[in-house]
Amino acid sequence: MDLASQDMQAVDRIINRSLTSEIDLINTVASYIVHSGGKRLRPLILLLCANAHGYRGNHHILLAAAIEFIHTATLLHDDVVDASATRRGQPTANEVWGNEASVLVGDFLYSRSFELIVEIGDRDVMQVLARTTNAIAEGEMLQLMYAHSPQTTEQQYMDTIQRKTAKLIESAARLGGMIAGQDEPINTALASYGMHLGTAFQLVDDVLDYDASSHDIGKDIGDDLAEGTPTLPLIHVLDNGNPSEKCAVSQVIETGDRNRISEILRIVRGTGALDYTMQKAHGQAELAIRSLAPLPHTPYRRALEDLARFSVLRDY
Ligand code: IPE
Ligand code: IPE
Ligand code: MG
Ligand code: MG
Repeated sequence: MDLASQDMQAVDRIINRSLTSEIDLINTVASYIVHSGGKRLRPLILLLCANAHGYRGNHHILLAAAIEFIHTATLLHDDVVDASATRRGQPTANEVWGNEASVLVGDFLYSRSFELIVEIGDRDVMQVLARTTNAIAEGEMLQLMYAHSPQTTEQQYMDTIQRKTAKLIESAARLGGMIAGQDEPINTALASYGMHLGTAFQLVDDVLDYDASSHDIGKDIGDDLAEGTPTLPLIHVLDNGNPSEKCAVSQVIETGDRNRISEILRIVRGTGALDYTMQKAHGQAELAIRSLAPLPHTPYRRALEDLARFSVLRDY
């Protein structure tokens, strides 16, 4: 994105500078994941929200790097929890170096992000991020608790994805406004934008886990099914399918059987469960765009609106 490309390069410089450790294996694993090419969505949102309010300083760069580190740490941990073998089109770190190294390097990236945050030295910023990392851990824990449970409700699912995914995007947007010195109504509007966009983003991710080419998303499809994770496509079948469809979905949630992916894909398509999930995602993207109403009309606001649209149109 042209509007933030120079800032993004600065973020990458901070990321590279902050990756180094005296411990070789940390350098190896950390640079493997960091240089595997993520979308850098969260830093971009933070930079756009800061620039939308004319921020002139360098704290947004440090903060964007810290947020990308937090995101990357959660991916290392998440791939262990989800037993995932592919991410960003290459073998996951847990696949190459094992679960132990992945968890520990995830911790290293978490604590490096704290160092960057301390460099900024703003108590309010620290509080937002402390709450955010708490929420992510809670969300991942909730997901673990609901695994293999066909009783999981749509509301429990929404609560889970808001914590594990949307909260960090909410904070990226809010912090962009905060460091630019915006008042509370604007920061609340930005936070609401991030929460809705993040929710849409995860809803789409959960559709793509069934209905995408693994080449496009750079991840194996069927990971959610293999873990018995009741995402919205499955919950919708349990609420609306016929008895045999419900029975099949209930069984795979309990057993977590990746081999039944084509049967389940047929069911989630046939019952309209993927369409339903996409409709919810579109609704959230629309709410994200509406949340921006209090912002001045600038190219930055338009870019934020485009990102909300992208979050539901993406196929990667
Ligand atoms: C993946 O996030 C984890 C989810 C919240 C779905 P991204 O899709 O932003 O991951 P990268 O950084 O682009 O690989
Ligand atoms: C998002 O959930 C994980 C985090 C917020 C860390 P997923 O488990 O669906 O993400 P992917 O599909 O592995 O990227
Ligand atoms: Mg995962
Ligand atoms: Mg997923």
